[in-house]
Amino acid sequence: MKGLILSGGAGTRLRPITHTSAKQLVPIANKPILFYGIEDMAAAGIREIGIIIAPATGDEIREHVGDGSQFGVSITWIVQDEPLGLAHCVLIARDFLGDDDFVMYLGDNMLEQGLTEFVEEFENARNAEPQLGVDHVAPAAQILLAKVENPTAFGVAEIGPAGEVVQLVEKPEVPPSDLALVGVYLFDPTIHEAVASIEPSLRGELEITDAIQWLVTNGHRVNHEVLVGWWIDTGKKDPLLECNRLVLDTLKRDVAGEVDDNSSIDGRVVIEAGAKIVNSTVRGPAIIGAGTVIEDSYVGPYSSIAVDCRITHSEIDNSVLLRRSSVTDIPRLTDSLVGRDTEITKGDARPRATRVMLGDHCHLEIE
Ligand code: TTP
Repeated sequence: MKGLILSGGAGTRLRPITHTSAKQLVPIANKPILFYGIEDMAAAGIREIGIIIAPATGDEIREHVGDGSQFGVSITWIVQDEPLGLAHCVLIARDFLGDDDFVMYLGDNMLEQGLTEFVEEFENARNAEPQLGVDHVAPAAQILLAKVENPTAFGVAEIGPAGEVVQLVEKPEVPPSDLALVGVYLFDPTIHEAVASIEPSLRGELEITDAIQWLVTNGHRVNHEVLVGWWIDTGKKDPLLECNRLVLDTLKRDVAGEVDDNSSIDGRVVIEAGAKIVNSTVRGPAIIGAGTVIEDSYVGPYSSIAVDCRITHSEIDNSVLLRRSSVTDIPRLTDSLVGRDTEITKGDARPRATRVMLGDHCHLEIE
């Protein structure tokens, strides 16, 4: 079993962060989103992983991941010149995948449940001995589904009496079920015929739902499993902050950095070695990266502050700050995602006004 992680794409919904960086490298509890997926694959026993990257952000992803040895896996890099769809990723990974079964994972998705059970179930179903009187058809694919409240916003599956997928519909007006496709899929090599047979959709992409529907229509068995626990597509700011909250909730207290006598560290807080807390309160769950200085400030629950940041005379909570950013004299910063090397400060220049220098596609909400 091989792994294929999709880490290219345009990332339009997470601009301006994605103008200069890959969304899969945005940290959740100070660890890139992509690393959680690689670790889940490694934990499921997968040793060979192909990662799809885009020309603009691929080098940065390569630098972070390296050769995979930090995860105990080997990585093959596959550059996708244009984001032509999830099924297009399978098409261009053909040489890497060969005739092996594989698990495909969207690099900006996060699941509470690991991949081990999901992979085992597929392998067991494929290797099961036929039993007398019971029809056994080895599945060509297995998809992961989650119960959702608004199925009209998702790709939705209709399930038959034997648990087989009968039909997949993209954003249906009348949903056949409340089971939406989650970004994890298992395939046998039949998928290569499927992705080579389908046509681009109206939005010009080769859709993985169309490829799976091709399998069903052509008589191949597609199994499903219903997800246990949470699943988040982190491709937008608010789901990303929600994911950060869920992961921080699992944090264990570890205060390795410097904390002066006038500061208090309450609850599940990680202060990495090399961080400094001066005359401040940090209330968990929260994580403070190495080299960061928090001074005369309050850092409240669900904050992930990356390395080399500076928070001075400010209050912040439920936010993710990327590295080398600073927040100065801000009475309350909340529900925010702040990119790298960004400064937020309160000036006293007259006339009193909000002065900004914002990049393209930014979002600024003033109290
Ligand atoms: P999406 O979030 O569906 O697409 P996107 O990255 O283009 O984002 P947006 O809609 O905001 O513009 O992609 C899911 C994952 O798959 C994500 O990690 C990017 C990756 N991907 C590719 O690697 N190649 C592709 O052609 C597409 C469409 C996505």
